[in-house]
Order: sequence, then C-alpha cells, then structure tokens
Amino acid sequence: MEDEEIVADQVAYYRARAPSYDEWWQRCGAYDKGPEMAAEWDRQLDQVEEALRAFSVSGSVLELAGGTGWWTERLAQTADHLTVVASSPEVLEINRIRTARADVEYEVADLFAWVPRSSYDVVFFSFWLSHVPRQRCAAFWSMVR
Ligand SMILES: C[S@@+](CC[C@H](N)C(=O)[O-])C[C@H]1O[C@@H](n2cnc3c(N)ncnc32)[C@H](O)[C@@H]1O
Repeated sequence: MEDEEIVADQVAYYRARAPSYDEWWQRCGAYDKGPEMAAEWDRQLDQVEEALRAFSVSGSVLELAGGTGWWTERLAQTADHLTVVASSPEVLEINRIRTARADVEYEVADLFAWVPRSSYDVVFFSFWLSHVPRQRCAAFWSMVR
C-alpha cells in the first residue's frame, strides 16, 4: 500500500468506527478479554494518568488525533487553552460531549496536511505514532517541533 492510501484508509476507518471506539477503550463487548486484561489496561492507564499529573499540563495545549476524548477530558482539567485536531468529525463530536468544556477548540484536519497557526506550550498525542507512515515521520516531527 502507498502511504497516501494508508492515510486515507486510516481516516475512513476512524470515521466509520467512531461509535465503537469507546467499547475498545472500555474493554467491553467484543473487546472484553477478561478481568486480568482489564486490570492490566487499568494499571497502564493509571500510570499514564500519574505521569500527566506529575507533568502538570498547563498553558496553551495542542492535542493531535484527540479521538473520542479520553485524554482530552484530562488535559482540559488543567490546560489554560486547549486545541484538539483530528480527521474525524464523528469522533470529535463524542469528544466535545465527553470533555464538556465550551472553550476547547476543535479542528477537523488531516494531520499530514495541517499547518499549525501558532505555537503551543504542550503537544500531546496518544495511540497515534503507529499511524504515522515511516516516510512521513520526519515531516510529522518537524510539524510538532
Ligand atoms: C487510535 S485513535 C487515538 C485517539 C485518542 N488519541 C486516544 O488515545 O483515544 C487515532 C485517532 O487518529 C485520528 N486520525 C487518523 N488519521 C488521521 C489523520 N490523518 N489526521 C488526523 N487525525 C487522524 C482518528 O480520527 C482517531 O481519532
């Protein structure tokens, strides 16, 4: 697959999958792999939450590929200003409801074409790097920088 096709495929996949993404996150329904796996998932989430707490996210914050908002919700608790970019309006609508902070700025965009209009104090992303095709890594990191 050419990387353009991979990117288009990923965009379409998350648009179609918006309603079921949270089942995956919550390890329920088809994603229920039993109590041990659920406990391990919770343990890892706790670790990341603790790291975020220790880092104390503040200032102007940018979240890339924010998805349905599991981390947006946490970032929104301490960020002075928060911008969330993702390619799927469907996931961002779920994110908006979950995060419930009126001044969060949402932008629907393909991150491989998106150009930031300002700089930020913090850039956050999760479950995203595996979606960056190898040939696009350098350009992606340069955009982050
Ligand atoms: C695995 S989800 C991660 C969502 C969220 N960060 C989380 O941890 O739950 C990947 C996200 O990347 C977004 N995405 C996929 N391709 C994208 C692209 N080319 N540009 C912007 N967002 C994209 C999808 O809409 C999806 O919300």
